[in-house]
Amino acid sequence: MWDRCIRRFSDYIIKMLPEVVFVLGAPGAGKGTQCSLISKEFGFVHLSAGDLLREERQRPGSEYGEMIEEKIRNGEIVPVEVTCSLIHNAIQKSGKTRFLIDGFPRNKNNLEGWERVMADKTKLLFVLFFECSRDICTERCLNRGAAGSGRSDDNLESLKKRFNTYLNDTMPIINHYDEQGLVRRVNAEVSPEEVFNDVKKIFKGLD
Ligand code: C5P
Ligand code: MG
Repeated sequence: MWDRCIRRFSDYIIKMLPEVVFVLGAPGAGKGTQCSLISKEFGFVHLSAGDLLREERQRPGSEYGEMIEEKIRNGEIVPVEVTCSLIHNAIQKSGKTRFLIDGFPRNKNNLEGWERVMADKTKLLFVLFFECSRDICTERCLNRGAAGSGRSDDNLESLKKRFNTYLNDTMPIINHYDEQGLVRRVNAEVSPEEVFNDVKKIFKGLD
């Protein structure tokens, strides 16, 4: 009797937890573009780890501003304590229940930090992985830079470093989730509309 009660109560608590989709892929794979489309059509809140870090970098009086800028320019990953607390605050502030966490977890430190403080406060639905070749991604980022993205890392030198970080540090995280059957792959080499057609099939299957 008690067992059943406790089980029901824990099922209820799990249902109430904020639901999270991690969105990963190489720089320029189209994570941000697709996340805006998903958030419009399926009502998820789009939280980009990169955008949150860029915002924190600009915040007057931030003690992390310089460190963040240096890491971003060098394509390195900011320590998880900073990133995770920005994500945590954004989740709490939104008052919403479903989130796309774009560009996170990017390395082992990100993953361990999340598991330490957030994993039991959220429910991970799956990891959306945008697959795109290095050449196409590089071209997109360079075009984005040329079109005035204003990003200090949309240049060839930073891109080389961002790709190394992606291959060495992010791919193992994707493989880690793949082993748990949590990765949903999408071909991101086609147009945004075509990519979104595949993405929609994944989100429509949710409920
Ligand atoms: O995802 P996005 O391309 O906007 O990330 C830009 C940069 O922000 C990354 O190259 C990295 O320096 C930083 N970042 C990070 N940790 C994350 C996501 C982004 O340090 N989880
Ligand atoms: Mg982005």
